[in-house]
Amino acid sequence: MPIFKRIGVLTSGGDAPGMNAAIRAVVRAAVSHGMAVTGIRRGYAGLINNDFIDLESRSVGNIIQRGGTMLHTARSIEFMTEEGRYKAYRNLVEAGIEALVVIGGDGTFKGARVFTHEYNYPVVGVPGTIDNDLYGTDMTIGYDTALNTIVDAIDKIRDTAGSHERLFFVEVMGRDAGFIALRTAIACGAEEVLVPETVTDLDKLKTYLVENVQKTKTSAVVIVAEGDDAGGAIEIADKMKKEIPDYDMRVTILGHIQRGGSPSAFDRYLASRLGVAAVEALVDDQRSIMVGLINRKVAHVPFNQTIKHHKDIDRSLLNLLYVLNT
Ligand code: F6P
Repeated sequence: MPIFKRIGVLTSGGDAPGMNAAIRAVVRAAVSHGMAVTGIRRGYAGLINNDFIDLESRSVGNIIQRGGTMLHTARSIEFMTEEGRYKAYRNLVEAGIEALVVIGGDGTFKGARVFTHEYNYPVVGVPGTIDNDLYGTDMTIGYDTALNTIVDAIDKIRDTAGSHERLFFVEVMGRDAGFIALRTAIACGAEEVLVPETVTDLDKLKTYLVENVQKTKTSAVVIVAEGDDAGGAIEIADKMKKEIPDYDMRVTILGHIQRGGSPSAFDRYLASRLGVAAVEALVDDQRSIMVGLINRKVAHVPFNQTIKHHKDIDRSLLNLLYVLNT
């Protein structure tokens, strides 16, 4: 006898390539345990508005390779209120959904933690965000694909930068974290990276660009995480243009292309493993945890921990970048 007759699955927060692969894994793992699955559309908003669909093995066929999320996603303000969560709980009970798998990021797990606490309701989280900023997993679903998308774009930028002997400021996503910026900077051989985790000194940047870059290199790329304390790429480039008027500079903001596209092999693999692990955790009577992958092994991390602990970038990689770009 399965411990639950029916479970629900939803995606919430910013979408990430590999979310579909995770949905597929959740559905098929649940079916293999004899449980029925309800898909909840538009994240927590769908819980509140009864936006439910039945999912069977065949409903999730041919989606492993697709970007986005077939269940759609949203950031629900109403779920942050007690009334909203009460409506959600009533809808779950009425639909016979006895446990939930939520796929998303930090905000998704904050909502889930409060909900499990209020209603003693089993919820297991799967980390899905391109930002990779979740404590309790080495990689989040979507991060690897986003890195590949960015590297591909910057390689193209490098071609034109070289031809025109220009400096490009390329802004990548990462409102609160520099994981994307730092990893892509190394992978693209960028001359500099600016991340929210460190204080950006624009005077130092100017000196570095004049002394170490302009004089010795025909092209240059500075990667700016959108959440950098000195501003976005446009703002920083404007300041540098004033300081170094003879340096030909351009700005590219990669924007939401970073969140789209077919998931990489790694993201499909990660999503498949974690989707199955989430269902197995529920079957094992676990609740209020996120499943992650640490040192290639599945880990169960309480929501409390993923929310409380800040995952930091590996700061030694900043030095590595300077060694490599001399
Ligand atoms: O998915 C996370 C993230 O990519 C952040 O890095 C970024 O700031 C944010 O989403 C932007 O998302 P949206 O445009 O959907 O608000």
